[in-house]
Amino acid sequence: MVEQSSHKTANDTPSAGILPASHWAHPDDEPSAAGNDDTSSLYTSDSFSSTTSVASSLRRFRSLHGRTYHSEIGNAVSWTPNDQKHIEMLDLMHATCLTAIHEKLFLAPLDTEKLKSVLDVGTGAGHWAIDMGDLYPNAEVIGTDITPMQPSWVPPNVSFQIDDANLEWTFSDNRFDFVHLRFLVGCITDWNAFYREAFRCTKPGGWIEHFEAYVHWYDDAEPIPEGSTLDIYNKAFSEAGKKAGRTFDVLPDDIQKKGMEAAGFVDIQVKDIKIPFGPWPEDAHEKELGLLAKAYTLADLEGWLVFTFTEILGWEPEYTQVFIAHVRKEINNPKRKLSFRYRVVYGRKPETS
Ligand SMILES: C[S@@+](CC[C@H](N)C(=O)[O-])C[C@H]1O[C@@H](n2cnc3c(N)ncnc32)[C@H](O)[C@@H]1O
Repeated sequence: MVEQSSHKTANDTPSAGILPASHWAHPDDEPSAAGNDDTSSLYTSDSFSSTTSVASSLRRFRSLHGRTYHSEIGNAVSWTPNDQKHIEMLDLMHATCLTAIHEKLFLAPLDTEKLKSVLDVGTGAGHWAIDMGDLYPNAEVIGTDITPMQPSWVPPNVSFQIDDANLEWTFSDNRFDFVHLRFLVGCITDWNAFYREAFRCTKPGGWIEHFEAYVHWYDDAEPIPEGSTLDIYNKAFSEAGKKAGRTFDVLPDDIQKKGMEAAGFVDIQVKDIKIPFGPWPEDAHEKELGLLAKAYTLADLEGWLVFTFTEILGWEPEYTQVFIAHVRKEINNPKRKLSFRYRVVYGRKPETS
């Protein structure tokens, strides 16, 4: 049995319908907890300039619970690891996204003959940016991220920069034909400010596309019971986003469309995509999507959960590990027909603005 310890208050105070962390201590399926290498808070408020070249200090990644994360420089925080295990998962996730929009890299009606400059914000390991560079060799593709986890062997028209999207962007006005971002839930402090910067940096007539996910389980077989593992999972992410000031509720709060409209984008289109989890759908495309979604989620389930539960919600690492074991068991239950949601929203900057 996991011992209760000094983090009692953070772990035992139920919040927003979330059971206390100690609820997850279970002798039968308690996995061994990874070491907690560094428990200092990431939520510091030092001042920091917006862009930094890939200096050696940025490569000193933060080691936490046996994983590495963006280094503790400036205010930038990422809830996902930047190590090899997570990079391999991102590769599978990229394949899932392409399948979700039928082997396309984007949905916006770009004039690809005239595509000269593309920005991918929060590029991660750069999978999307590299594919764009390959497909459009005449376009310059820049991927930005707070952490240098991108490969060095890339097409000659692709480059990466360290840039914190929460600060004023370093690019000049009207710089890009296309601004793209994918999966920045839990990362952005002010979405309206984000879209204003995107608008400023987009050329008149250019496009923005925001491909986003909702970290929330649905079950077509039966409603997810209140207080169950998956219900807690759903509520925990929402709660963590509020606590960290970086929302996970981008889809339920309709942030993409509202933010783009407020910034001045027009011709906004919204596409909701149900992502089955596992091979339960009958339809061949849905089945393939479900297999891919399951593969990438399970490829690094720990990487998806550890930071949010330990560093933001303040759970003991041991309880977090046990909770992850419960989640793994639940999402592998063949009776369930689980799914989650993606939403792709794109819009155009007017010729005159
Ligand atoms: C879930 S990953 C998505 C990566 C990529 N867009 C993709 O779809 O494969 C989120 C990425 O956002 C980056 N990120 C987090 N906060 C950021 C910020 N403030 N500015 C720029 N990138 C950020 C993380 O380092 C991470 O690489």
